[in-house]
Amino acid sequence: MERLNEFSRLINKVYYNLFVELDKKKKITFNFTKEKRWDLLNQIIKIKKIENYLEIGCDNNHLFEKINVSNKIGVDPREGGNVRKTSDEFFKYNKKKFELIFIDGLHEYDQVNRDIENSLNCIENDGLILLHDCLPSTLRSQAVPRYSYYWNGDVWKSIVKFRHHENLNIKTIKIDEGISVIKKCKNQNILNLNIKDYKNLKFEDFYNNYKDYMNLINYSDFIKSI
Ligand SMILES: C[S@@+](CC[C@H](N)C(=O)[O-])C[C@H]1O[C@@H](n2cnc3c(N)ncnc32)[C@H](O)[C@@H]1O
Repeated sequence: MERLNEFSRLINKVYYNLFVELDKKKKITFNFTKEKRWDLLNQIIKIKKIENYLEIGCDNNHLFEKINVSNKIGVDPREGGNVRKTSDEFFKYNKKKFELIFIDGLHEYDQVNRDIENSLNCIENDGLILLHDCLPSTLRSQAVPRYSYYWNGDVWKSIVKFRHHENLNIKTIKIDEGISVIKKCKNQNILNLNIKDYKNLKFEDFYNNYKDYMNLINYSDFIKSI
């Protein structure tokens, strides 16, 4: 785990378990497909004949280098891609439109919300916004502040928030740590929860309700639906 030393890790773990939520060691088994995110993205690119792709958070280009499109932009303040900025800095001046956006930057609720809002402003009308790491299997893998090496962050809370939107249809594919797909169209399965602060949701809530919260779909059914 880069940029987090053992001392911070321990402090974050104690803080989270004392003041946010105690780890009861519950685990969800998702049975993800053998296909990975690049298989999904390249299928979408092929089927929808996509030419303009944006990736937020590229790391070592594990995904970015496998994307087969003529125009691709990869934004990362640290490494990978071809734009050395944070997503906020990039979106502030961006005028381009994209048919496919993959959000995989800082996996924390407030940042993910901004990345989704900004992506909605530059996605083509029938384009797709995808988010990685939406299905954490344990409390520690979604805890913010982070204390686990293996980490998805709390992206799932942003999905719960946006699933209330009338004009956004959102599904979560059971592939590669969970990939949610946002499309601008009438929400066919609106989530109606009386929640004031989505950030305060707990892993216990996710554990008990993830099927409703995330609107799960199999990889093959999703590909058929494109
Ligand atoms: C999980 S990695 C991305 C992995 C890559 N998309 C893939 O599929 O292999 C997350 C990346 O997000 C970057 N990142 C962190 N904060 C960011 C921000 N505010 N804007 C854009 N990228 C950010 C990190 O530097 C890191 O390289």
